[in-house]
Parts: sequence; C-alpha cells; structure tokens
Amino acid sequence: MKTVLSGIRPTGNLHLGNYYGAMVNFLKMQEEYKCFFFIADWHALTTHPDPKTLNANVRNVLSEYLACGLNPEKATLYVQSDIPEIAELYLLLNMQAYLGELGKTVSFKEKARQNPNNVNAGLLTYPVLMATDILIHNANYVPVGKDQEQHLEMTRNFAKRFNNKYGVNYFNEPTAFASNQQMIKIPGLDGSGKMGKSEGNCIYLIDEPKVIEKKVKGALTDNGPEGENTAKPDCIENLFTILKVVSTQEVVDYYDNLWNTGEQKWYGNLKKQLAEDIIKVTTPIRERINDIKNDEVYLNKVIKIGAEKARESAGKTLREVREIMGFRSL
Ligand code: TYM
Repeated sequence: MKTVLSGIRPTGNLHLGNYYGAMVNFLKMQEEYKCFFFIADWHALTTHPDPKTLNANVRNVLSEYLACGLNPEKATLYVQSDIPEIAELYLLLNMQAYLGELGKTVSFKEKARQNPNNVNAGLLTYPVLMATDILIHNANYVPVGKDQEQHLEMTRNFAKRFNNKYGVNYFNEPTAFASNQQMIKIPGLDGSGKMGKSEGNCIYLIDEPKVIEKKVKGALTDNGPEGENTAKPDCIENLFTILKVVSTQEVVDYYDNLWNTGEQKWYGNLKKQLAEDIIKVTTPIRERINDIKNDEVYLNKVIKIGAEKARESAGKTLREVREIMGFRSL
C-alpha cells in the first residue's frame, strides 16, 4: 500500500489555503492509503514562537485536522516533536545537504529578507527537516500546496543522493498529491498571490459566517471589464480561483460569461455567492472544531496513540538507515 504524508506548522488557525492545498482529500486518502498527518512544531521554531502559546497552537491544529474528517484509527496523527527519530535522521541527512543548494531555496531567501535579524541555521536547513519528515515514513505522496513545490523537489534530490551514495534503492522519490495533478495556490482576498497567515488576508476555517461575508465583501476588485473577452486582472482572477474550488462549474461558468460579455455591476452578486459557498464548506468544519477543541482527554489520547504508531514506523526506517550507513546496530 502506498504511503501519504502531510504536515502543517502550528502557527495559528488553519485557513482556506491550507484546506485546499493540503487537506481537501484527507477523507478519501485515509481510506485508500497508509496515511501520516502531523503537526510540524519543530518547523515552527524557526520563527521563535512564544512558549506560552506553542502548545495551544498545536492543540488548535490537531482539533482542526480532526474536524476536517481525519479518523485517528485509520490515519496516524502525531506531533513532530514527539518523534525523536526524526531529529536523528535530520542529523544524518544534514551531512548530505549542501550550503549552496540550501542558500538558494526560495523560502529561505524570502524569510531571510523579511527577518534579517533571525537568519538562523534551522531556517537554512528547513528543507532537510521537511525531507526528513517525508522520508522517515518513506512516503510516496505528499499533499501540499504550490508553495511547497521546491521543498518537495529537494526531498527527491536528498532521497536520490542517499540512494546513489550508498548504492541502495531505499528511499522513494515522493511526489505531490493533488486531486487534478496540479498543485494549487489559493490567493488572498487583497489581490495578492497567496492566502497566508503572515499576509493577514485569510479566511479561516473557524471564521463565523458574518466574518466571512465581511471579508469577502471587502475583497479587492477593479472597475469591471473594459470590453469583451479581456484578460482578468489579478484581483478578479483571484476571486475566480477561490470560486472554482468552493462552487459548482455552473456558477463559475455563469460569472465567467458575465466577465467575457463585458457586463458591468455584478461583483456584488459574485461576492455574495462566493461568501455563501465558502460558508457551506466551512460551517460543518467550524462546528466540529468547536466540539473537539475543548475535549482535552480525547486530544491527549489521539496524540498518544499517534506518537506510538509514528515512532514504530520511524524507528524501523532509522534502524535500516543506520545499517545502510554502516553504524553498528543498537
Ligand atoms: P504550512 O504550515 O505553511 O502550510 C500547510 C499546508 O498548507 C498549504 N498552503 C497552501 N496551499 C494552497 N494555497 C495557499 N495559499 C496555501 N497556504 C498554505 C501548504 O502548501 C502546506 O501543504 N513546510 C510545511 C510544513 C511541513 C510539511 C512537512 C508539509 C513540514 N514538514 C512534510 C508536508 C510534508 C509548511 O510550512 O506548511
């Protein structure tokens, strides 16, 4: 059976980008594949989170994962820092990752530019830790949004390099898992390219309907089409990108047609429809989040069982890797 692995950093509530980039196929995946879903709390350390809120954020993401339909009896759901085997494999893989390739990573350069006072080594080796997350369970598929494409490509390089160096065919070269084979990027409502927590342009899964309506109403638009069949500017294209994932094809075609015929004054209706369809997707999830997030006993049980299962799988990989690399067995 093929293995799927997906991770999310606990840096706040989950938004539509996380949902459509990584989570939308969870229900199907857990029926068809061996699934590992985890909370990347070590990755969150690169931005020095407040110790007082780190654990609460981990619990939040856990509740949100479960609310999206994950069944901890079918999938393995765990917290990265509960699995010390990941730290050891990370150390081993770091020896085969080169400064040149790490320094060229787009996410590293971006973070270094945004926070010049916190260009730490963990930030530089972030792709190695991410590769470790994936390779420790020898995953075949990784559901991620377009922003993680380069990290996934680096993972394949690290896997290939290890196999070549030791003359083995041990690590798989994992690929993205996307429903239509295309990695998706959910844009922001402010006309920007990406919905993201640090961009402050998100619709959160936990947002109340009124909040969603207000956010969508406030989305950036232009003055309307300037003729027939013109190209849409980014801010309008963005609204259509979100419409395509939350609405039916019929709805998308209807508004596409209004754009293409050069009709004016329908953005208000488009936004109303968009908000309504987003609310349809998020409402059952929000209700479940609210049910789950205060159930400490259940959450603790899920994390404990998840850690045991993840450690078993990770331990097996680590033992085999140690042997391949020539360490004496423990
Ligand atoms: P993170 O926490 O930033 O995001 C979690 C997942 O959500 C996706 N995502 C998006 N997809 C589409 N459109 C968006 N606007 C959008 N915003 C976020 C991300 O692509 C991701 O799939 N490095 C990872 C966490 C990680 C990981 C891993 C993922 C650590 N180890 C191993 C997969 C496998 C990250 O920062 O994701």
